[in-house]
Order: sequence, then structure tokens, then C-alpha cells
Amino acid sequence: MRRIAILTSGGDCSGLNAVIRAVTKKAVHEYGYEVIGIKDGFEGLVSNRHRILNEDSVSGILTMGGTILGTTNRANPYKYPVETAAKVAYKDLSALVIKNLRKLKVDCLVTIGGDGTLDTSHRLSTRGVAVVGVPKTVDNDVKGTDITFGFDTAVHVATEGIDRLHTTAESHHRIMILEVMGRTAGWIALYAGLAGGGDVILIPEIPYDVGRVVRHIKDRRKRGKNFTIVVIAEGAKPLGGKVTVQRIVKDACAPIRLGGVSFVLGQQLEKLTGIETRNVVLGHLQRGGSPSPFDRILGTQLGSKAVDLIAERHFGFMVGVKEDQLVKVPLSEVARGSRSVPLDHPMIKDARALGTCFGDQE
Ligand code: F6P
Repeated sequence: MRRIAILTSGGDCSGLNAVIRAVTKKAVHEYGYEVIGIKDGFEGLVSNRHRILNEDSVSGILTMGGTILGTTNRANPYKYPVETAAKVAYKDLSALVIKNLRKLKVDCLVTIGGDGTLDTSHRLSTRGVAVVGVPKTVDNDVKGTDITFGFDTAVHVATEGIDRLHTTAESHHRIMILEVMGRTAGWIALYAGLAGGGDVILIPEIPYDVGRVVRHIKDRRKRGKNFTIVVIAEGAKPLGGKVTVQRIVKDACAPIRLGGVSFVLGQQLEKLTGIETRNVVLGHLQRGGSPSPFDRILGTQLGSKAVDLIAERHFGFMVGVKEDQLVKVPLSEVARGSRSVPLDHPMIKDARALGTCFGDQE
């Protein structure tokens, strides 16, 4: 009998439990494998914390947000924070992780995570660990797949946020700015902005000129539109300027946390237009809660495909979606970098044709 281990690592998102459930049920039911759930991502492989998963233990989790296994974005085995008397030292504990996997007699490790997790997975696979990766993130920015689960739920939450801001913006004749997640990619802002009818959509891929945004708002006023909805990605930046950093998380694989650009922009717009402006940072609301039907289905399909790869002994791959087909992509191709919104994306063209301002053209 084969034994597989599964872990969730990095920031959580809706749909993780759908993958855990699909992997466990299919592995047990169809192939008769044993499944071990590793607790809190790679941290659980360093400290040997895990639990047996079976059909009963994953029953009822499909609709739940978060991850029943726990997660962390501070446990990169190649740069693991180890506390000594006075300070934190960073050590390469990858050999310990590999040793612990061998002790557990794991035939294959399924890692569910974003680019950092997939990079670690790739590095482990080059050292002989059988790994299959499953891409997750609200940001939708993992290379090698057209879509990640968690994104659709985040877009739903952000769109509802825009809908709610619309009514209050219109009543008070204000500019309302909604800041959404996405790190250095503008997928959430673009999708939610289009779905919610945002008048201005600002994404990291298109640095914005505040003057152009101001002119767009004033033109709207002239046309009798006394309010404006701005949707801004946390990673958006002004032309020639920098991103707004909210905090540095020292031990994290990617330490920079973006956030607060909507405060900065709000103050500028209020001053330059004379229109009262408010901003809302949607934050982690986008990551929590019950997954959308789309994310439940995608998580289930990716989990199921991951188990098929294990059965076929295709290790060192990530499962993904390309042109609506489930595919396997070498981890070496997805491990580094992220997937940005292409500037010629059809949704940008469509939005421009409807008069949406991206902060770069009149
Ligand atoms: O990568 C997912 C994400 O939610 C980003 O959109 C966001 O910038 C970051 O994680 C927030 O991380 P944390 O949960 O550590 O604040």
C-alpha cells in the first residue's frame, strides 16, 4: 500500500479543504492508499506533527473556508527561523524534512501552495523527494496555470464590496476607493472592477498618473455623475513611484506585505478634486469564508488530478488548468516568478471601450 502525505502552506484561501478532501477520498477510495495530513505546512514536517486522514476525517469540509491542516508562511525549510537565546537564526532544515518524510514512509508528498511553496517543492524534488504540487492563491498569479482556486471567492467578496460602496458613494456624492489584494498582480482588481462596474481600476501592471484619474473624475462630474468608484490593487503604484508597504514580516518567505495605497490615493484625490473621499481596505475578508461553487469544483478537480499523477508515478509536477483542460506542468517551470495581467488582456480592452479609466490614458 502506498502512503501519501499532504500539506497546505503559505497564506490560506477558500478551497483548500476541497483539495484535501478530494485527495484523501480519491486516494483511499479509488487507490487504497494511506493519507497523512501534515500540520501547519512545512513546519509540521520539521517538528513531526501530523495526523491520519481518512474518508471520515475529511467528511463535511467541502464548504469550509481555511484549511483543516493549518498553514504558515514562515516555515521555508531552506531558510527556517530557529530561535536561539538572543536572536533568530535562519537554518537550512531541508535535510531534516527529507529525513522525516522517509521516517514516515511517505511515497509522495502533495503540497498545496503558492509560488513560495511550489519553489520549495521543486527544490525538494531535485533531491529525490516525490512531490506533486497543487496551486492555490487568491492572487491568481501562479505561473503555469490559467486559474487558481481561492481567486473566484475573492472576486465575489470584492464585487460585493463594490456593490455596497456604490450605493453609499452615490448617496453622498463621494469618491469611494476599494483596495483589494493581489500582491504584484492585478487580477482581483481587474475582475472585481469589471464585475462591479468600477469607474477607475488601478492595477500594478499599469502604473497610474494621478492627474489622469483626477481628470476622469472631473469629466464624470461634468456629465452629471457626482460619485466615482475606484478599485485599486494593493500593489498598484503611481508612474515613477513605489508600491505602498504596510509591514515587513521578517520570517516570511516573501517578507513584504503591501497595503495602504488607497489611503495615499484617497488623500490626493480629495485634495485635487475637492470631492470628499473615503477608502476601504478589504484585506483578509477576501481569503476567508465558504468557497464559491467554482472554487469547490476546481479544488476537487485539482486534488483528484494530483492523485492520478501519483498513481502514474508522475512526480515533480504541479497540476493546473490550461485552456479549460487539467494539465501537469513541471515544477521547474512554475517555481519562480509570478503571472501578471498581460497589458493586452481582453478584459482591459473591453473595460477601456466602456470608458473605464486605468490611470494611464484619457
Ligand atoms: O498571497 C496572498 C495574500 O493574501 C496577498 O494577496 C496579500 O498581499 C498577502 O497574502 C497577505 O499576507 P498575510 O496574510 O501574511 O498578511
